[in-house]
Amino acid sequence: MQKILVLDFGGQYNQLIARRVRDNKVYAEILPYTTPIDEIKKNGYSGIIFTGGPNSVFDMSSPHYSRSILDLGIPVLGICYGCQLIAWMQGGTVSTAPVSEYGMVKLNVISSSPLFKNIPEASTVWMSHTDYISKAPDGFDIIANTENCPCAAVQDSNKNIYAVQFHPEVTHSEYGSQLLHNFLYEICGCTGDWQMDSFIDDTVAQLKKQIGGKKVVLGLSGGVDSSVAAGLLSRAVGNQLTCVFVDHGLMRKDEGDFVEKTFTSLFDMNFVRVNCQGHFLSKLKGVTDPEEKRRIVGTEFYNVFWEQIKKENATGFFAQGTIYPDRIESGKGEGTGQSVIKTHHNKVAMPDEVKFDGIIEPLKDLFKDEVRAVGEKLGIPKELVWRQPFPGPGLSVRILGEITAEKIRLVQDADAVLRDEMDKCGYAENLSQFFAVLPDAKSVGVMGDHRTYEDIIILRAVTTDNFMTADWARIPYDILARVSNRITNEVRGINRVVYDITSKPPATVEYE
Ligand code: XMP
Repeated sequence: MQKILVLDFGGQYNQLIARRVRDNKVYAEILPYTTPIDEIKKNGYSGIIFTGGPNSVFDMSSPHYSRSILDLGIPVLGICYGCQLIAWMQGGTVSTAPVSEYGMVKLNVISSSPLFKNIPEASTVWMSHTDYISKAPDGFDIIANTENCPCAAVQDSNKNIYAVQFHPEVTHSEYGSQLLHNFLYEICGCTGDWQMDSFIDDTVAQLKKQIGGKKVVLGLSGGVDSSVAAGLLSRAVGNQLTCVFVDHGLMRKDEGDFVEKTFTSLFDMNFVRVNCQGHFLSKLKGVTDPEEKRRIVGTEFYNVFWEQIKKENATGFFAQGTIYPDRIESGKGEGTGQSVIKTHHNKVAMPDEVKFDGIIEPLKDLFKDEVRAVGEKLGIPKELVWRQPFPGPGLSVRILGEITAEKIRLVQDADAVLRDEMDKCGYAENLSQFFAVLPDAKSVGVMGDHRTYEDIIILRAVTTDNFMTADWARIPYDILARVSNRITNEVRGINRVVYDITSKPPATVEYE
C-alpha cells in the first residue's frame, strides 16, 4: 500500500491534511517532527507533507527537521510553516511579512507546475500567516503569488520539492483538493489504493491470520467505533468472538435492546448483555455532585465489565475500538511541547489479573468518517453508524442532581420524542448533536382546570466542527413547537419545555 507521511510541526489542521489525502484514496499517517529520519526512510513513503505550525522558523526553539529529509528522493510538499521551513532549509529568505494575510485571498499562478494542473490561473485560497518567503531559495521557481505574498507557491521540480504558503486542506481554498490530488497523483505517483472495500478484505484476512483458532473478546458500548470493530471481527472469526455489552441503564430509550437485536440478528458472534441498571442506580443513590457521578459510572462500568470478562473465562485476544485520532495528539503536533493529550476514551485499562495473548485494534488506522464508511459496507444499521456522540457516563450527565429510575424515564421519553421529530422532518442532519436534559427543577403549570407542579425538560442542540467550540442550533420555531407539544402531551410528568440558546464557550455541550 502506498503511504504519505504528514510530518507534524504543530499546526491546527494536521489531522485535516491526513484526512484530505485519504479522501483522495491514498493512505496518510501523521508522525511528529521528532521522528528520527531512519524511521521515515524505513517506512517507504511515496511522499511527505510538512504541516503548518504556530511558530516562526527563525526561532530556533521552533520545530525544525534535518535538512537531509529533502535529499531522500521522496517528493515533499510544505504547507504554511512547512513551506517557510523548506525555504529556510534550502537557503531562501523568510521574513516577517509587511502585511500579514488572513482569510480568503486571490492567488495568481505565474508559471507552469504539475502542482497546479487543472487549476485556473486565478483562484481563491485560504491564508493565515505573518511570516513569508521573501526570497525563494536557489534552484526554486516561484509558481504563484498573491497581492501581499510574492512567493505563495514555489517549486524545485528537479528534486520534486513543492511549498505553498496557503492551506490547500481547508475547503475555503477553492482548488485545494485538486492541488493535493496533483501532488499525490502527478508528483508522488500514487494510484489510489486506499479504499474501504480493500481495507475490509485486507483487515479480515489479517485478523483471521492473527487470531487463528483462538478467541477474542470485545467490549461493545453501542457506539460507532466498537460496533464497527465488532462487525469486522465477526466477519473474520464469527463465533470465536464474544462481545460484552454492559447495559448500565443510562443509555437512550430502547437503545440497549436495539444494540442486542442488531448484533444477535445480523452478526455471527456470542453476545453477552450484562443488565445492571439496578446496580448503577444503587451506587448513584443520593449522589448529586457531577464529578462524583461521572467517577461512579466510570468505575462501576470498569468493575462490571472486568467481572464479566473473568466470569467468561475469556482467553485469547482482547479487542478495542481504538481509532486513529485516539492514538495521535488532537490538534497540536506531538512533541511540539504544547500538546494537550486527548483522553483515549476507547482504550480500556486492564486489571493485572486478566491475561490475554494480545490486544487487537482493527480500526486503529481509521478516521471517524472512514470507520462509518466501513460500518455501512459491513451492513451495520444507519442508526448505529451515524449515531451522534454520546457521553460515556450516558444520561447521568443529562439528569442534574440525583439520578432515579423515574428521572431516567422522563429524560429518555423526552429525548425519544425529540429524536423522532428531528428524524421525521430531516432536520437532524443539520445538527452535530441534540438531546434532552432534565434539570433538577419543577415549575408550576396548568392543565384543564388543574394546577400542576412538574418537571422541566431542556432541549439542547448544537452545531460544531470539533466540539471544542459549538454554536446553539437555530432550529426553526415550528419544529421546536411540535417537539414541545409532543413532550408535554406524551411524557407524563413534564409540563414545560425550554430551549437552550447558549454556545460553547461559555457553556459546554453537556450539562455536567
Ligand atoms: P462538552 O460537554 O465537554 O462535550 O462540551 C463535548 C463533546 O464531548 C461529549 N462528551 C463526552 N464523551 N465521555 C465521552 O465519550 C464523556 O465523559 C463525555 N463528556 C462529554 C459530549 O457529548 C460532546 O459531544
